[in-house]
Amino acid sequence: MTDFLALAQPGVQQLSPYVPGKPVDELARELDLDPASIVKLASNENPLGPSPKALEAIRGELAELTRYPDGNGFELKSRLAVRCGVQINQVTLGNGSNDILDLVARAYLAPGLNAVFSQYAFAVYPISTQAVGAQGKVVPAQDYGHDLEAMLAAIDANTRVVFIANPNNPTGTWFGPDALERFLARVPSNVLVVLDEAYIEFAEGDELPDGLKYLARYDNLLVSRTFSKAYGLAALRVGYALSSAQIADVLNRVRQPFNVNSLALAAACAALDDADYLAQSRQLNDAGMAQLEAGLRELGLSWIPSKGNFIAVDFGRDTAAINQALLRAGVIVRPVAGYGMPNFLRVSIGLTAENARFLDALAKVLNA
Ligand SMILES: Cc1ncc(COP(=O)(O)O)c(C=O)c1O
Repeated sequence: MTDFLALAQPGVQQLSPYVPGKPVDELARELDLDPASIVKLASNENPLGPSPKALEAIRGELAELTRYPDGNGFELKSRLAVRCGVQINQVTLGNGSNDILDLVARAYLAPGLNAVFSQYAFAVYPISTQAVGAQGKVVPAQDYGHDLEAMLAAIDANTRVVFIANPNNPTGTWFGPDALERFLARVPSNVLVVLDEAYIEFAEGDELPDGLKYLARYDNLLVSRTFSKAYGLAALRVGYALSSAQIADVLNRVRQPFNVNSLALAAACAALDDADYLAQSRQLNDAGMAQLEAGLRELGLSWIPSKGNFIAVDFGRDTAAINQALLRAGVIVRPVAGYGMPNFLRVSIGLTAENARFLDALAKVLNA
């Protein structure tokens, strides 16, 4: 039999597939549980449910499902351009912001070239990098966060891309405006800086820089954002990039023609206008974070301070058994051993009752 793994390009042979949070239905099947009784705090999703305005927009779009979507996403791009203070030709839409990361890798990386990213960085950076045969240069983290100085030092003549996330997933760590400015000022102008702001709406105005402010000054900067988190549309897969018009043009060349579907386009436009929903998401997240921190403190646990909609809890020992016990209690959180953090579990902020359920289950597991 032909070994088709051996025939895959070397970068792909060494890849492990992305491991998503366990779906509720899967756990329900495995343990014969009622899906309604399961709490999922594993994928940094928005616990609010979708914006009613987004749902209404989707319903308005259903009769057109036989048609291809607007391949240029004109309406959404126009609104994003206004919102972000850029020209429409500086906006690239993605099938989730994952797609944006992948477009960057396909357009700018190749065998012999490399991308620099941090230890404990988002799993898609190495996947997209290796998938095109490029090398991922992993820079040791500092206190679980990005060591931007060390990342600068890691850039070499073959570096084409640096991926940085603010806040970072799975650690929740962040850097401030001064650190970003110092970094951008020193990255060689031929190296594309991908500033991944998937969680920025949870942290805006909170010690974190707004990446958009630097776009006019640095034409090697790309800011990537998403509708999956604070806007609550993870299932629809809509993300976007803001960059120079030239980089947007390059990404557009490798983009699949209809990468964002029509329901997603309509819902994203509506979600963008739903300021109340966004404010509620932020408020719920702030309150949930405080609730989890208080509960964890009571249990004598520590965690990495986070500006995202999740928190990485440090158990000081391997968490595989704790995770299994939580699953048996119907609570899904995210093991991060795959990120080199076997002593941690990442917990997404849920509704008040969901957070309480997690804390209660955890107390029982730890005291069993
Ligand atoms: C740091 C970071 N970037 C990007 C993404 C991709 O999200 P999406 O493709 O849903 O926009 C995620 C998702 O968890 C993330 O944590």
